[in-house]
Amino acid sequence: MLSLKRILLIVDGPGVMTHTASLVTSLLRQGVAMRVALTESARLLVGDYFTTMLSGTPLIRFPEISEKILGDSDAVLAAPVSEKMAWLLCEDDWLAKWKHVKGPVMIAPAFLPQEDNAEVRMMLSSRGGGAVQWLMAEDETTDMGSLGSLDVASPERCLEAAMTAMTKQDLAGKRILITAGPTVEDFDPVRFVTNRSTGRMGVALARMAAWRGADVTIVHGPMTWPIPPHGGIHACPVRSAQSMYDAVMARVAYMDLAILCAAVADFTPINYSNVKIKKQKSADGVFSLEMKRTPDILDSIGHASGRRPFLVGFAAESDHVQAYAQAKLESKNCDMLCANDVTKPGSGFAVGTNQVTVFKRDGSVVELPQMSKEDVARRVLDIALEGMSHRAAN
Ligand code: C5P
Repeated sequence: MLSLKRILLIVDGPGVMTHTASLVTSLLRQGVAMRVALTESARLLVGDYFTTMLSGTPLIRFPEISEKILGDSDAVLAAPVSEKMAWLLCEDDWLAKWKHVKGPVMIAPAFLPQEDNAEVRMMLSSRGGGAVQWLMAEDETTDMGSLGSLDVASPERCLEAAMTAMTKQDLAGKRILITAGPTVEDFDPVRFVTNRSTGRMGVALARMAAWRGADVTIVHGPMTWPIPPHGGIHACPVRSAQSMYDAVMARVAYMDLAILCAAVADFTPINYSNVKIKKQKSADGVFSLEMKRTPDILDSIGHASGRRPFLVGFAAESDHVQAYAQAKLESKNCDMLCANDVTKPGSGFAVGTNQVTVFKRDGSVVELPQMSKEDVARRVLDIALEGMSHRAAN
């Protein structure tokens, strides 16, 4: 179900030029409506129309924030703000105002990189008496062109925190393991066999689960799609099918749900050459690579004895989708299988959308329409959650 979200963004100082532009556009991309309040110093730099045009709503001049605006907001995000402003937002009169907001108030203070301010950061993050969440800079800096740079939680991290703050936490307390991306099978120091997976579907699953409060471990091969900076997502990078198998098996018994979405190589070269293989070796112009089967991770979990998580597989098919998917669900002994026809436009590798049909253990089938990978992830998690509670009840 579509849930409409509203956020109040408070911005102070020079960070408005780059950080705000990026944050506002990414919040809009997630369908979040917003009001932006700029302080005098931020307005001086970008003028009154900058954020109005970006956000599509009239600018608010800080501190003229009405009770109505606060009450209409699902969250408040003050990012980036100066240290002085961060202290101000924790004073009693502001703490009283924050009570009107439906959800959390988050503050991302910005510092100049050369400042030695570890103590200030410590003191700040204990302010607010639990009424505010602090988003402190880790090793991020925001570039401001000739004005230099700022140490502040990145727009990406602010976005993840904001989306989590505004999403129903129906996966809180759940531990979820996701495999994603391709695997890479090396056969000499510079050559390998891999596939076209970017990892985008797996990252979407990890992200949507983390927004809903889950503790997510993503075991992934080398991906071209970035993992968002979210405190609830723990990345475990691997390379080969065997290393993915080892990493998954070491963790899976502790999980409530495992979604295996990686495009694991089915075969790996039998021999590895420590030196680069010379092309002269093949006098007839033919090079043969002998390969062997890799361990099937999904199948191994499906047939493991003892406690195992609710198990979801993905299957990319190019023909007979229904028949192959049903057979895979049975043979790999999983609880749910999400199949997609990779020959269909807008479905499968390296595109932003996917069209998935979910096959369940009770024989029922849910055909999802073509949607963004984030929306597919949301629906797959809904169906898995339903299956998990059904399994717990029986
Ligand atoms: O048999 P097929 O490769 O089509 O099965 C796809 C599903 O099995 C996916 O969930 C994939 O992540 C998983 N798989 C695996 N280990 C393999 C091969 C596939 O976990 N070696």
